[in-house]
Amino acid sequence: MADVERPGAQEWVPDGAGLEELRSASAECRGCELWKDAEQVVFSAGQRGARIMLVGEQPGDQEDRTGEPFIGPAGRVLDDALADAGIPRGEAYVTNAVKHFRHHVRGKRRIHDKPGVAHIEACHPWLDAEMRVISPAVVVALGATAGRALLGRPVRITAERGALTEGPQGARVLITTHPSALLRLRGREGWDEAYDRLVADLEIARDAARA
Ligand code: URA
Ligand code: SF4
Repeated sequence: MADVERPGAQEWVPDGAGLEELRSASAECRGCELWKDAEQVVFSAGQRGARIMLVGEQPGDQEDRTGEPFIGPAGRVLDDALADAGIPRGEAYVTNAVKHFRHHVRGKRRIHDKPGVAHIEACHPWLDAEMRVISPAVVVALGATAGRALLGRPVRITAERGALTEGPQGARVLITTHPSALLRLRGREGWDEAYDRLVADLEIARDAARA
């Protein structure tokens, strides 16, 4: 398949916009080709004033159908881990590095495709605008795609997780695993340890956001 032109989201991001204005403008974004095969944009959930921002990879099948981030299977793992870490989900701002669902169709199923670096870069102006509006104390990068989007470089989860690093716009960034990586371990050896580590990482973010 020929590479599609990707102008990037910048020209769709209104200058100096508040959260609601960003949210509605994102529905019009044509900054890369991913909007074409998606049902809708999935922008974010949460409010200004949130001290913690959680950044995932991209919406999944259910998120694409509803327009809400992290409501499918990975979202349920995230909900449990947030509750166990003492972070009320309603107090966090939840978003994704890439705002449209990249996938291919096989039979009746829509299969997730990882967004490429070009999609992360094309979509970055939205994340940047969100950082400006929310101004969180701590940003949690859920997985390598979010880490790359926030830090602008490749990130290795195993080597870098659990440490607070200096991120954009004065926020601190904490890298951890993506909850969908845990889904593969459910009911198997390794689940407890992986889940407990995610909760422990979120507790570090919780404490840093309070400080
Ligand atoms: N996975 C993500 O990274 N984000 C979502 O919103 C859902 C699943
Ligand atoms: Fe715009 Fe991001 Fe959607 Fe691409 S994925 S069209 S850059 S909102």
